[in-house]
Amino acid sequence: MDKLLISGGTELSGEAVISGAKNAALPILCASLLTAEPLHLTNVPQLNDIATMLRLLGEMGVGVDRDDDGLTLAGAGLDNPVASYERVKTMRASILVLGPLVARCGEARVSLPGGCAIGARPVDQHIKGLQAMGAEITVEHGYVHARAARLKGARICTDMVTVTGTENLMMAACLADGETIIENAAREPEVVDLANCLVSMGARISGAGTDVIRIQGVDRLHGATHSIMPDRIETGTYLCAAAATGGNIRLTRTSAAYLDTVVDKLMDAGCDIVVERDAIRLAAPARLKAVSLRTAPYPAFPTDMQAQFMAINCVADGVATIRETIFENRFMHVNELMRLGANIQIEGNNAIVRGVDTLEGAMVMATDLRASASLVIAGLVARGETLIDRIYHLDRGYERIEEKLAALGAAVRRVT
Ligand code: UD1
Repeated sequence: MDKLLISGGTELSGEAVISGAKNAALPILCASLLTAEPLHLTNVPQLNDIATMLRLLGEMGVGVDRDDDGLTLAGAGLDNPVASYERVKTMRASILVLGPLVARCGEARVSLPGGCAIGARPVDQHIKGLQAMGAEITVEHGYVHARAARLKGARICTDMVTVTGTENLMMAACLADGETIIENAAREPEVVDLANCLVSMGARISGAGTDVIRIQGVDRLHGATHSIMPDRIETGTYLCAAAATGGNIRLTRTSAAYLDTVVDKLMDAGCDIVVERDAIRLAAPARLKAVSLRTAPYPAFPTDMQAQFMAINCVADGVATIRETIFENRFMHVNELMRLGANIQIEGNNAIVRGVDTLEGAMVMATDLRASASLVIAGLVARGETLIDRIYHLDRGYERIEEKLAALGAAVRRVT
């Protein structure tokens, strides 16, 4: 199993290119299930989660062609609307095939995702929404079996804001008979990127980016070309890494447009940030100030940036309170950060972080994707060597992380 060896203490400086967004690419790959015509995608990040999704789509009969310019997905051969437990258990986002499959094939068998390290993460809202659209759904032997000759437009109000839930229902509604209204919809930029792709495929969607999305169903969708938006979480992670190390970096092929809360918090911590058209510069102070935060659905502070801000608060001046409101078990990085010398106390869904002068390198274990990113940041700051085990979590969501960090001057090496 690969590990990451970091010799801490170097200020990050220089430029790095940001990849396409994993969380936009995953649902957009599933949009290929909605049409028999080719969907051409550019700026698709090369990540393990993307490879898993492509394997899953391939098993269903979708053709996948790569060229220098991106990927072409051909849904003409779709003949096996089944997502097995073997695939779904490694990546919860596999549930995103459910809506498109019922809409196009009239039937789908998709394994329940099961437990997940950061929380229970049920899919009841995905199921409830499809039932409202007339799908007959049974859950047997760990599989969701959905059937509908043709889905019907419906008014759906989800019990909580769910990102993949909104995406699944929006995709399904594109081919339904009549109008679907999704209330309490997720407003995440990745939902908007998916909607833009669907619209270029002929879907009739309005309101994406607000909490009410309206979809007028059409009989068929056609092929299209779409470029995946930049990864705002990867961008935020590198900004945090530079901030924690007292660095000075420029990130290109990205945008600050969807990072307001993250940029504001970094400025509160004392960083200078300059926003360019397709780039962001950050210059960090000698020591950061502690910044408290509370995670919540977009446009509030993203839960996917919570662990990285925990890491920067570990070495900041002062005390920060971090409140996690989306996932009930998303503090697994805390014990590992404490192995590096951090001072953190957990009280329910609050973590109280008291900044220390320095962290010390140690062996730590990655437990989930963003938790791993926080360990990388802490390792970059710590004195001496930090060895991070189980970095397959990182490879799910950060493209060529050791190369990008090395280009910014970090002493990072993958150990096989
Ligand atoms: C997506 C992101 C993930 C991010 C999360 C929150 C992708 C591929 N993943 O995950 O990186 O951390 O949004 O921003 O885009 N819930 C239910 N029932 C449901 C659906 C959700 O109870 O049917 C709960 C979840 O357990 C969680 C909350 O709702 O507590 C939000 O989850 P959700 O937005 O659905 O997360 P994902 O879409 O899985």
